[in-house]
Amino acid sequence: MSRHDHGVLLAIESSCDETAAAVLDRREILSNVVASQAELHTPYGGVVPEVAARHHLTTINAVIDRALDDAGRTLDSIDAVAVTERPGLIGALLVGVATAKGLAWSRGLPLIPVDHLRGHIHATWLAPLALDPPYVSLVASGGHTRLDRVSADGEVTLLGETLDDAAGEAIDKGARMLGLGYPGGAALDRLAADGDRDAYEFPVGLAGRDTLDFSFAGVKTALLYLLRDIGTPGPRAADVAASYQEAVMRPLAERLLRAAEKAGARALSIGGGVAANSRLRALVTEGAEAAGIRVAIPPISLCTDNAAMIGAAAYFTDRVPWPGYLAQDAVATAPPGGVAT
Ligand code: KG4
Ligand code: ZN
Repeated sequence: MSRHDHGVLLAIESSCDETAAAVLDRREILSNVVASQAELHTPYGGVVPEVAARHHLTTINAVIDRALDDAGRTLDSIDAVAVTERPGLIGALLVGVATAKGLAWSRGLPLIPVDHLRGHIHATWLAPLALDPPYVSLVASGGHTRLDRVSADGEVTLLGETLDDAAGEAIDKGARMLGLGYPGGAALDRLAADGDRDAYEFPVGLAGRDTLDFSFAGVKTALLYLLRDIGTPGPRAADVAASYQEAVMRPLAERLLRAAEKAGARALSIGGGVAANSRLRALVTEGAEAAGIRVAIPPISLCTDNAAMIGAAAYFTDRVPWPGYLAQDAVATAPPGGVAT
């Protein structure tokens, strides 16, 4: 792993339910277009893989055109194409990878196959945050929750991870139990803003243990039981939401800060959809300031899935020269260690 100047990049992301394209000039985001399919999947209470793949297929060319337009560029001024190759829904990934390969090949450009998790880990590299590694990173999304140390040349070492549900999964299931729809992270955040986070006591997974791992299965079950006991929370819904949110966000913030202190890190970063959470952002900011550690928190548009972060991760990823990537495949799973090196 090392740093690479790929020039002006077209980056493409299609691993789940967002069709996204961005144009970047090194750290500068020239455009960042995201077409979310979330509403399409709402009636099913989760992402339906075939629906996602089909929708990517009908949307991706328009999203790329829009990204080029917004950036005031044409394909003539693109030096390389970056694309999410793993992990994710295989049909969804394939649409992005096939599109990227086609564009890159037809223009004689190199291709940079990027790990989606690296996108979340490196989003803070982009201007204006422009955080250079080394730092300690928390990525919390719908599918992943992990703490990593990121070395100066971008090498990622796992420090802790969830033993069961991802934080976003716990948040989405809680939101659904509270009748907030799917995916309910942002709605739960808004409801919790008016609530008392000390109103209800929820168990914090692995509390009191000297670990940097996480567990969110218990807090989810506790919410199920609480709602069974009290029935529809009615006017207390905001208190339930705030207390539940606290039990998910507090261990994320505390273990991130502990990991940073243990590693002697001078900076920390958060990423992934859950990093959009206002309570997590407040806890991490307060804690880092108290510990004298620099904190880099991307704008919400760079926390949830987007293609600009894939362009950032490309900076730390080797390119495959034209035309050697024609056999390049999408891969559903994460590599051993969780993140591609
Ligand atoms: O990174 P992301 O966009 O997609 C995945 O790769 O999973 O993360 C989506 C997750 C969902 O669980 C969503 O509910 C959650 O991020 N999320 C939030 C907030 N906004 C999005 N969770 C808590 N508070 C938010 N404000
Ligand atoms: Zn993601």
